[in-house]
Amino acid sequence: MSAAATSPKEPSVPRSGAGVRLCGLLAEFRDPDALREAARRVRAAGFSRWDCHSPFPIHGIDDAIGIRLTKLPIVVFFFGLMGCLTALLLQWWTNAAKPADYPMVPTFLQGYGFLISGKPFWSFQANIPVIFELTVLFSALCAGIGMLVANNLPWFSNPLFNSERFRRVTNDAFFIRVDSTDSKFHLQQTQGFLASLGAIAVERIEDTIPTPAETRLPGGLVKTGIVLACLGLIPLAFIAVARSNKSSSPRIHLIQDMDNQEKFKAQAAHPLFKDKRAMREPIAGAIARGDLREDDRFYRGYKMGVDPKTNQPAPVYFETFPAQVPVNEAFVQRGQQRFNIYCSPCHGVDGSGRGMVNQRALELGGGWVQAADLRDADRRSRPVGQLFNTITSGVRTMPPYGDQIGETDRWAIVAYVRALQKAEGAAIEELPEKERSALRKR
Ligand code: HEC
Repeated sequence: MSAAATSPKEPSVPRSGAGVRLCGLLAEFRDPDALREAARRVRAAGFSRWDCHSPFPIHGIDDAIGIRLTKLPIVVFFFGLMGCLTALLLQWWTNAAKPADYPMVPTFLQGYGFLISGKPFWSFQANIPVIFELTVLFSALCAGIGMLVANNLPWFSNPLFNSERFRRVTNDAFFIRVDSTDSKFHLQQTQGFLASLGAIAVERIEDTIPTPAETRLPGGLVKTGIVLACLGLIPLAFIAVARSNKSSSPRIHLIQDMDNQEKFKAQAAHPLFKDKRAMREPIAGAIARGDLREDDRFYRGYKMGVDPKTNQPAPVYFETFPAQVPVNEAFVQRGQQRFNIYCSPCHGVDGSGRGMVNQRALELGGGWVQAADLRDADRRSRPVGQLFNTITSGVRTMPPYGDQIGETDRWAIVAYVRALQKAEGAAIEELPEKERSALRKR
């Protein structure tokens, strides 16, 4: 080890600042083995603020430096847990918490408590996707930001880059750096110590101390920042104005689809026609496709008449099935199948009104009306035309099914409702002979 090699070389620090300060010492070693051995001894000497730099990973260097496992996974775990709980709470609050239960909470912070199709307010399974997403989001953000914080990043300049020698660290040179902030650091002694480890060179790492003028942000940057910050407030100002104002003009319509087209509005004027109206009279005698529904008995189940008591116009329901539908066994079976699909959720397969949706909705409360028992005296007394019209147009709280079930199927359902009514308390004489003898045998 020659004296020239160990005497610290003056680093080539740019001298524009208010002076230089010592940041630490940099020792170069010949090869990975020398570096690893030196690292072991630096560690044994009790230094704590130091590191090794090499062009490639070196086996056993972690042990030599004494690198411990990062604690980041533990932090990430707790952040993931927090995301999971946030998602649970958010969904519970918006779906399951009914506003009436928490009157102290301001309205805009309250949940909804909507009853949708008799489904439960709080269903853990349905909430799993959001729970999963928020858990991943929180953990990922924590891991990313935590890694930066733990590594003191971002760090825009490192005094090591002032060293000419250090440039070779990505190529073929091996270094140990000891920071001057280490409690064991002493310039001469540490220098001697590093040299004694077999370093081929030890040099001081220095940094310029910037003058106050140099630490100031460039004026242009500051001004640009202020301007950008002000511009950034403009959207917020627009939102604030919009929230506190009323407007009769339509909202800004970004996605047009085909909402606004060139067309003539009903009742608008138009010079093309003699009568100056854009709207045309239907051609006399023409019927739009699907509009010919003259047969009241088949399409409506009633015709308009007059209520004898009030002398007001009122529907008169037909008592018999229309001629278009054959009321036979196959027809009633079709009705049964349709009934089980469309009606049984509320009215039950037996027509008693105890369908699954009905039972669940009653249990949850929320203003549900008990579905009618289709076999009671009232419903038995309804003419078939009225039952048909109930399916077509709904009644009170029961929704209409005219758009979902065609006329023939609606009549089939009516026939099956009649069969259900008959099934309750029918006399044995009313059964066909075949069934009667089968029953007698039992
Ligand atoms: C979403 C649940 C629901 C479904 C599905 C449903 N109903 Fe109803 N239905 C009701 C409720 C509720 C009532 C009682 C309405 C009231 O009294 O306000 C009712 C009443 C009735 C009544 C009695 C009307 C009257 O005159 O008093 C008939 C008949 C009826 N439903 C037939 C049917 C048929 C047939 C179907 C299948 C096409 C059907 N309902 C499907 C909920 C339902």
